[in-house]
Amino acid sequence: MRIGQGYDIHRLVAGRPLILGGVTIPSEKGEAAHSDGDVLIHALIDALLGALAQGDIGTHYPPSDPKWKDADSRFLLRETLEKVSAAGYRIGNIDCTVILEQPKLGPHRESIRNGLQEDLKIPLDCISFKAKTKEKQDAAGRGEAVEAMAAVLLLPL
Ligand code: C5P
Ligand code: MG
Repeated sequence: MRIGQGYDIHRLVAGRPLILGGVTIPSEKGEAAHSDGDVLIHALIDALLGALAQGDIGTHYPPSDPKWKDADSRFLLRETLEKVSAAGYRIGNIDCTVILEQPKLGPHRESIRNGLQEDLKIPLDCISFKAKTKEKQDAAGRGEAVEAMAAVLLLPL
């Protein structure tokens, strides 16, 4: 078995969609990014690459490379899943936390888990999603950023 963890943060700006796990969440602000800025999938990709000890999202999919610039995060996630199986592993379970002052994500938990399941193709009870505020502290707490953390366990194929 192999364990991995990942983290990401994106600035939040008005007029951009808030996309988490491939799902667009109704929100006044969304992630500032070239791509969709899906902070949750970016953290998850880093957790998967970390479990494989194969570097990180920036080394595999550099935004400086036209091939990856503006890439759909779900496409990058599927590319990463192929690296997981090529290394002889499959996902056992994942556990994710998004830190966001508002909106509340509890009402969107199931759609986010379902969104992740579309790409991960593992049982829903192996996909955990949680949300926290930053208690009004620092950038995330002021509503200027959204953060995500992910942990994964890989099992042999
Ligand atoms: O950050 P705090 O401990 O106050 O969050 C309390 C609960 O509010 C969390 O456990 C979670 O269920 C929910 N929450 C949420 N959406 C957020 C932040 C927190 O649903 N953006
Ligand atoms: Mg990111």
